[in-house]
Amino acid sequence: MGLCQSQESSRSSRGNKKGGKGANKRRNDKRHEKRRKRRYSSSESSEHTTESDSSSEDERTDRKRRNHKDRGDRHDDEKEPHQPGSPFRDGRVVDSAAYALQYPVISKEDQDILFYNARTCTRFAAIPIPHEMLRNAMKLALLAPSAYNCCPMRVVFVMNENTSAKDKLLSCLDPEGLRQTQEAPVTAIVCTDLHYTHNLPKLMPYVPNAQQMFEQYDDLNEMIRIRNSNLQAGYLILALRSLGLGVGPLSNFDNEKCDQLFLENSTWRSNFLINLGYAKDDQYPPRAYRLEFDVAAKLL
Ligand SMILES: Cc1cc2nc3c(=O)[nH]c(=O)nc-3n(C[C@H](O)[C@H](O)[C@H](O)COP(=O)(O)O)c2cc1C
Repeated sequence: MGLCQSQESSRSSRGNKKGGKGANKRRNDKRHEKRRKRRYSSSESSEHTTESDSSSEDERTDRKRRNHKDRGDRHDDEKEPHQPGSPFRDGRVVDSAAYALQYPVISKEDQDILFYNARTCTRFAAIPIPHEMLRNAMKLALLAPSAYNCCPMRVVFVMNENTSAKDKLLSCLDPEGLRQTQEAPVTAIVCTDLHYTHNLPKLMPYVPNAQQMFEQYDDLNEMIRIRNSNLQAGYLILALRSLGLGVGPLSNFDNEKCDQLFLENSTWRSNFLINLGYAKDDQYPPRAYRLEFDVAAKLL
């Protein structure tokens, strides 16, 4: 739930204590409007100001509906769903960077889960992970953008319960990876498909020659395959974290052996592993230093 949403809901639950639903809504609308005006007081250019204190509630509702209609949004009376990338936020154009930063489209708590508090997990609780959760994670990860929508990542989920598969996997690991992987209820073998181009006619029907184009040049083919698999894998990590799971990526293992044991007669090749499950504890070493903006980026 977004920050604005939680503010909205707490406001409406307070409002429900007195008077009818309509009266609550009017009170909430007024309060909401005042807050918005305060937020925007510094940057309130007439161009972006679509509401005023003097307008009647009917006028405001009408305007809100028109805004919804123009944007093709649903007609929720309360919180409007945010269209990713849209400059509209809760019926307003985001005309101030400060506002956008203060009210991110996902809540600060969600940012904590996905970024600020998300750490590489190496200790896992002995809680089994339902298959449905892995399906959900894949559903999210497969929405990642990829060049020509080529989707070259493949994943083999090795479940703890499958002791023979787990033993095979453990035989590919060094002692440090072994300990982490032993404990993990699931390990994802993140792979790439050498024949990912075969799906291009279905994945990118608007470019009929995409498959031929990529298969013609080995270098290009490989670059596209690796780049986009890695990108999808990044999304998989975020997807797993968004479902509340701890993830521990591992690249230090015997890829060749892993391919022999798990991917024989297949066009899939292992890339790296992701141990996943519920974190056993929240005792992590201090976060390693991250590069400053000026080292990692340039503004031109
Ligand atoms: C693709 C990938 C491979 C990794 N391989 C290993 C590994 O082989 N061994 C290991 O201990 N950590 C491995 N890590 C974990 C990183 O060391 C860790 O993400 C990094 O130190 C940042 O830690 P933090 O996520 O807790 O901030 C890997 C991470 C990624 C994304």
